[in-house]
Amino acid sequence: MSKFAEKLFNCWHPVAYAREVVADKPHGTKLLDEHLVIWRTADGNAHAMRDLCIHRGTALSLGWINDDCLVCPYHAWHYDESGACVKIPQKEGLSIPTKARTVKYRCQERYGLIWVALDEPIYDLPEIPEFEDGSWKMVETGPYEWKSDASRQVENFTDFGHFPWVHPGLLGDPERPIVPKYTVEIRDNVLHYSVVRPEAPNTDDFPVFANEEVLKPERRSRYELHLPYSIVLRLGWGGQAGMVYFYVGQPISENKCKGYCIIGRNYDLDQPDSFLQNFEDTIFGQDKVIVESQRPEQVPFDLADELHLKFDAVAINYRRAMMQQGLDYYHYLDVAE
Ligand code: FES
Ligand SMILES: [Fe+2]
Repeated sequence: MSKFAEKLFNCWHPVAYAREVVADKPHGTKLLDEHLVIWRTADGNAHAMRDLCIHRGTALSLGWINDDCLVCPYHAWHYDESGACVKIPQKEGLSIPTKARTVKYRCQERYGLIWVALDEPIYDLPEIPEFEDGSWKMVETGPYEWKSDASRQVENFTDFGHFPWVHPGLLGDPERPIVPKYTVEIRDNVLHYSVVRPEAPNTDDFPVFANEEVLKPERRSRYELHLPYSIVLRLGWGGQAGMVYFYVGQPISENKCKGYCIIGRNYDLDQPDSFLQNFEDTIFGQDKVIVESQRPEQVPFDLADELHLKFDAVAINYRRAMMQQGLDYYHYLDVAE
């Protein structure tokens, strides 16, 4: 029995960057402890199925694609996009047992990601018009695989108090440790909050922000935290230049997650992608050490656990909202007992 909250199966989760799922090769991954194979038919559509051949339990992701079918690597049984086995090379005659199939899941491609829902989805994907507007450029960073639950990774992405200490000179300044006041508003499954805070100056190594011309660099950050594991963050410096961060975590297993971070900008369109990619590799690398050390590996959603101060309002509201929506791990344990 899975230890995840059942409702997590009713959410869309990312399972790969779309570019990682190439035309002629199945892609194996894992979501909420379920092994998945993602592959494409000739029309380019991506499909998600249980990564298990009904014949002898082989991983279909080790196979290949032929005649618009996914072929098992062991005895070459062919599965079509509905998950049905439509060809058994060893079998004479046409009839194929109806039991010969694998489970098919809902799958869609958007924002350069492949998304899977293991059961009927209850929330829509976040709307990010900038990502579907040709004048913005998107850069894919990561993905970042961590030995932690996805809840710890998403909380870290939105934790303000650590910037000066974990990312000095890049996202914060130890001389300015105070977190600006902000309030969190919850609408359905989305937390809304904004902060204005002094910007750390761009470093020579990572000139990625649009704050060069501003005398007192200030960064305005508008956040939407979409439960369970997505954040849309819009950054501005008072002018036309804008940046959109889309972070979303893939819950792989209880102690493993993978974060995808896509960054859109309407300035510096010619800057090589490697600038932002190297910058995020550095930031996520600094965070990884900290988050992988946290115990328990999952966020303890009960507010009586850990110690919360006022500047932790995002974490407090995240935990509360996850419990209210029935998406938390402990909630499920309580119900199960
Ligand atoms: S195990 Fe897949 S075809 Fe035999
Ligand atoms: Fe961080």
